Amino acid sequence: MTRISRQQPEQITEAEVALYWDKNADLWTEQVRQNLDAFREHFNNPVFLQFIGDIKGKTALDAGCGEGHNTRIFARLGAKMTGIDISPKLIAHAREAEKREPLGIRYEVASFSDLSIFPDASFDLALSTMALMDSPSFEGAAREIYRVLKPGSDFFFSITHPCFVTPGFGWTAFQDDPNIKLTVSEYFSKKQWVESWRFSQLPKPEDVPEFVVPSFGRTLSDYINPLIKTGFTLKELSEPRPSAELCRQHPFLTKWRKTAAIFLHVHCRKE
Ligand SMILES: C[S@@+](CC[C@H](N)C(=O)[O-])C[C@H]1O[C@@H](n2cnc3c(N)ncnc32)[C@H](O)[C@@H]1O
Repeated sequence: MTRISRQQPEQITEAEVALYWDKNADLWTEQVRQNLDAFREHFNNPVFLQFIGDIKGKTALDAGCGEGHNTRIFARLGAKMTGIDISPKLIAHAREAEKREPLGIRYEVASFSDLSIFPDASFDLALSTMALMDSPSFEGAAREIYRVLKPGSDFFFSITHPCFVTPGFGWTAFQDDPNIKLTVSEYFSKKQWVESWRFSQLPKPEDVPEFVVPSFGRTLSDYINPLIKTGFTLKELSEPRPSAELCRQHPFLTKWRKTAAIFLHVHCRKE
């Protein structure tokens, strides 16, 4: 992703998050389905799929599924999927894809911090890709996802790494290697703001409108402690690093090999 600009509203509600994502929905769907999210395609998805392992036969929730790109991948890997998202427009796109190519996926409009449409212990796996950092209530999501999981079930999620992709992060030139020094700042900021960005590897970015996305400052402990407090056992953290070979194939990943982790993958379990 490329971050473009910021403005500073106050508290952002879930209803507002839904409106922002509804406005992004058509462009997001078009670009994700054209595989233009280069970080996802070349790096984040392959490492996340390795992280979660065999999901065949699981009854699984995809929390914050968007238009369903990854939900369909999980379904093709053999999981019986339910996808929920707070944006009715994204869910409409997901349902339309399901109608076109049925994979047995159920899609519902819901917030992952209010999963009351599902009884306790409905799922034996919960997954979430790049969505839990886009909401004002991580605690609520942890609580609800815990509730709808059966005992003995795993919860895997990916987010941007809270220690490095901070509210004030940026790049500075370093010696003869431009854009290679990551500047971390405002790590402790709890600010909520609206950010405009595009996928970073678009052929003609200037011709493409930006996504406008509510963002929420959180530290590492703001993610990990609610999981523990809710009752989850932390099983594994992964901070994937692009290999040298992958960076040769996709040079845009190089700065994330040299500097810091762009993504954090978390595996926890309801024992
Ligand atoms: C960056 S997109 C990722 C979508 C999808 N997981 C993917 O990988 O393509 C973030 C998603 O989180 C959703 N979202 C934000 N807050 C949410 C909430 N409280 N409950 C459910 N979905 C939410 C947005 O509507 C958006 O679809």
